Amino acid sequence: MNNLTERINAATAFIRQKTDFTPAMGLVLGSGLGDFATRLTNIAATIPFGNIPGFPAAGVAGHAGQLVLGYFEDSPVAVLNGRAHFYEGISQQETTIPVRVLRRLGAHTLLLTNAAGGVNLSFVPGSLMLICDHINFSGQNPLMGPNLDEFGTRFPDAGDIYTAALRRPLLEAAQQAQLAVCEGVYLMYSGPNYETPAEIRAFRTLGADAVGMSTVPEALVARHAGMRVIGISCITNMAAGVLNTPLSHEEVVSTGARVKEDFARLVAMAIGLGAAAPA
Ligand code: HPA
Repeated sequence: MNNLTERINAATAFIRQKTDFTPAMGLVLGSGLGDFATRLTNIAATIPFGNIPGFPAAGVAGHAGQLVLGYFEDSPVAVLNGRAHFYEGISQQETTIPVRVLRRLGAHTLLLTNAAGGVNLSFVPGSLMLICDHINFSGQNPLMGPNLDEFGTRFPDAGDIYTAALRRPLLEAAQQAQLAVCEGVYLMYSGPNYETPAEIRAFRTLGADAVGMSTVPEALVARHAGMRVIGISCITNMAAGVLNTPLSHEEVVSTGARVKEDFARLVAMAIGLGAAAPA
């Protein structure tokens, strides 16, 4: 099963055999942020990624690797608890298969979360950043290859990938709830090594506020498919060279755990806004 469309079809059919649940919104939970899935109720299905034909396997500490279909409050959501990464050697066309499957299941909006390094010197570990735009520095693009016309057009507009019409009310809601949230540009680096201090200085000059190893391919594929996109970065550490300490995955996971309550509040607000049908 090599063909992308065949894999998307097989995954969708497999899930549809188990449940006719229709999510309004999809959620991708990044490193250390997967706890949120435990807040769903009326679970229609929980399926390990490894059981879904056509899905890529997700294999990193901090990622549970399962699809959970259920409700958050009154909103029907599909949670991808973990994700496959480009640095695993999996093409971006493949790492984004789950996003296209969620679109097939009916999701009109996608919330992407990640752990990221702070490039903007005003950030601190634990800051929450709404992504307002991105820089694709990964060296690849998930939309390369034959265009999947059933999802979207060959040359999609990228001027509003992180839907401003959702971002603005979300920022306002966070402010009203006295939850500190900033906005910024996310730059994707391939990984798997953390960046060098020289790379981080360069990325700051380019206009990046945060750096990470995911999200950009998923956002591109979602927008291509006409989905609205919200992106939230948890700044788990300052990027390389900002502080005098080596970076580690343990720090990423432990900061994620420390701020998970604030993160969950912001995600809850995002679902409240994003799950409502688009105007
Ligand atoms: N760089 C890249 N990816 C990351 C980082 C970082 O500093 N922190 C968490 N994910």
